[in-house]
Amino acid sequence: MTSTFVTVGVVGLGTMGAGIAECFARAGISVIGVEAGPEALARGRGHLEDSTGRALAKGRLTEAARAEILGRVTLTTSLEDLADADLVIEAVPEVMDFKRAIFTDLDRICKPSAVLATNTSSLSITAIAATTTRPGRVIGMHFFNPAPVMKLIEVIHTMVTDEGLAEEVAELARRLGKTPVTVGDRAGFVVNRLLLPYLNHAAVLLESGLAGRDDIDTAMRLGAGLPMGPFALLDLIGLDTSYEVLSVLFQESRDRRHAPAPILRERISAGLLGRKAGGGFYGPGEHADTSHTSHTSGAPGPSADEPSPKRVAVLGEGGDAFAARLADEGLTITPVEEAEAVLALSSVPVIELAPRLPHPERLVGVHLVGEGVAEVASTVLTDPRVARAVQSLVRAAGRVPVPCRDRAEFVVDALLYPYLNDAVRMYDSGYATCEDIDVAMRLGCGYRQGPFETIDALGLETVRDGLRALYAEYREPFLAPAPLLEQLVAAGVRSFRDRP
Ligand code: CAA
Repeated sequence: MTSTFVTVGVVGLGTMGAGIAECFARAGISVIGVEAGPEALARGRGHLEDSTGRALAKGRLTEAARAEILGRVTLTTSLEDLADADLVIEAVPEVMDFKRAIFTDLDRICKPSAVLATNTSSLSITAIAATTTRPGRVIGMHFFNPAPVMKLIEVIHTMVTDEGLAEEVAELARRLGKTPVTVGDRAGFVVNRLLLPYLNHAAVLLESGLAGRDDIDTAMRLGAGLPMGPFALLDLIGLDTSYEVLSVLFQESRDRRHAPAPILRERISAGLLGRKAGGGFYGPGEHADTSHTSHTSGAPGPSADEPSPKRVAVLGEGGDAFAARLADEGLTITPVEEAEAVLALSSVPVIELAPRLPHPERLVGVHLVGEGVAEVASTVLTDPRVARAVQSLVRAAGRVPVPCRDRAEFVVDALLYPYLNDAVRMYDSGYATCEDIDVAMRLGCGYRQGPFETIDALGLETVRDGLRALYAEYREPFLAPAPLLEQLVAAGVRSFRDRP
């Protein structure tokens, strides 16, 4: 049975559903949008008008084109209006009972040839399909927030999906100007299985006091080059949605990495669901900094009566270049005994250097990340005034300081390496190719590189060593380097692209 997809229904017009409806309407396809009642319908209309209004304001759409797009969308509160739709996409909250009820109704209402798709982020499509009399015509079509902007659609087939249907839906995705990645039915698919554990890990580390909210967001944006920090992104996705996805992942894996951080549950209970609710990790009027050149950090600078070191010692690998940069700023580089502040550019725990120093309270770890960030790690002995002064030095040297505690791999690598490890495990499991995983993370999350491109750029051994250090520190099984990574390093393979 070949599908033509002339009319598409979208059930649920929240952030995602409205965005999905816009994608189809922009591609010239007629859309019937369904919501539960008049208030929700009005909100859905509002989402569509706001999103296309923003494009109009930016000169990306003419008034006429906007009117055409909006004119292709019919809004209704009756599922019965979907009787003639060729494809229906369900985009209601991540609750299996809601989805099952809707699919039972759609199966009764829609013509037998219609394809029933779900935008679920993590729930079993096989289980949803089983509630219908046409499991072969049920498929996953997973969009990313904001749907009109993000270029990826995950197409998810089950064991019983009709042959050829996944390719037809992938072709439809291409008609929308998107890139499809087709995979089987596993909780979280590609992107959420890699993204959500990383976001959760950030929440766990925030709760542990490793670094502050703004500093972690800044570190991941400017240090790792991601489009948004993890807390800004949790607010965009919704804390409730993130919690539901993690719960499904945890149910399948029983892996602590997927156990939702208590800080998420606490905020959700307080009604802090993210942008859609007016606040999540960031408050309603508070905006995460999204610039890529910001030189501000949440950390306060030193006050006038605090020490401002003029003589510093710089220890460790890469120290000479950084010392030269500080000398350019007028600082005197001295031996350790004569310094006021001692900057340790070292990946071993900074505190291990303290017993050798005459003034361990002047010791601060400095970890240079990329071209623009320096993590500034205080040990248990560091004088907070010295730590603040070092943050100022780092700023003067042209880097954004990210104050943090002295823990293995500090902030950026502590979050990045486990995500890379998860990607290696996913590939090794046979679920998706390295290329598909890279494309999915680039287009689904707006990353500059996919995880395998990142591993290749950093070096397999560097990533393996970082994971070993993290595992030695935290003893969490998920931090142990994936066996495939260990083996590729042992075999001298330098790049995932060169693997046999
Ligand atoms: N709706 C429609 N358009 C939007 C939008 C929205 N909510 N937000 C931004 N845009 C558009 C803007 O109009 C702009 O379009 P033009 O280039 O045509 O002018 C474009 O997106 C870029 O926006 P901005 O310049 O305002 O902002 P930016 O450059 O900071 O980009 C961003 C914003 C696209 C959201 C970017 O920060 C990004 O890529 N972030 C990562 C988002 C991400 O990871 N999404 C996936 C989440 S996971 C998920 O959704 C799956 C799930 O199941 C949980």
